[in-house]
Amino acid sequence: MTLASHIHICADAESLAQYACKWLVQRYQEFASQANDDGSRRFRVALSGGSTPKRLYQLLSELPAGTMDWQDVILIWGDERNVPPDHADSNFRMVREQLLDHIDIPAENVLGVPEPGGDAASAAAAYEKLLMPLAGDEGLPVIDCVLLGIGDDVHTASLFPETKALDITDRLVVENWVEKLDTWRITLTSPVINAAKHVAFLIAGAGKESALKTIWHGPHNPSLYPSQLVQPRPGDLWFLVDEAAVGSTDAPDGVAFQRVS
Ligand code: 6PG
Repeated sequence: MTLASHIHICADAESLAQYACKWLVQRYQEFASQANDDGSRRFRVALSGGSTPKRLYQLLSELPAGTMDWQDVILIWGDERNVPPDHADSNFRMVREQLLDHIDIPAENVLGVPEPGGDAASAAAAYEKLLMPLAGDEGLPVIDCVLLGIGDDVHTASLFPETKALDITDRLVVENWVEKLDTWRITLTSPVINAAKHVAFLIAGAGKESALKTIWHGPHNPSLYPSQLVQPRPGDLWFLVDEAAVGSTDAPDGVAFQRVS
């Protein structure tokens, strides 16, 4: 059971990427139209890694000039593999190739994990220090949009089943040993994700049907199904999905599917 605010279903992965691009631009425009509290805060987006968001990032790089003022946008990473930023597995490299290399965004607006690839705890601590200035009075960074993917094991960001990061709530960023991958990851913790104004799962493909069914209808067991930890308050939770990922799954109680294009 999850407390989704919105479930928007697109026909396929391409239309989902197109829709997610519009969705993010809408959130940015809402932000830009409101006088934010201190008048100087930029729009903050936590990017997801993996393959699903690649097309979205390409589309963001192709937005007509002026659609999003990248000078006014801060990009952070929801998680990172503990590899150098030029490594084939690096989420930073993926975003650089699909987006950063094609837009005019100030370097100081791009907050990637400092020096990943060495000691994961040091990289996590350095990232936490880098993100600290984004924190508001609650001591949590105020992120406008957190984009998330989901693994077929129902992990999200680098919050994997039965890993230590799931239970850490007094940190912004932690290192997380993922036994099944035999690797260290660096990830935002669930309190940071849940403090966001808008959290959107971007999910495409039949391979995700089971995971989606588990989030919406499975037993509540965040240790086994970490995506269930994502319950933003007072922010809202969006599922931007395609038909293949939904498959035959019914909507969770209290939420209606909205088919969009
Ligand atoms: C990562 C992501 C991870 C991803 C899911 C889905 O670093 O890989 O943050 O949480 O979103 O594993 O990945 P795909 O989009 O490749 O299916």
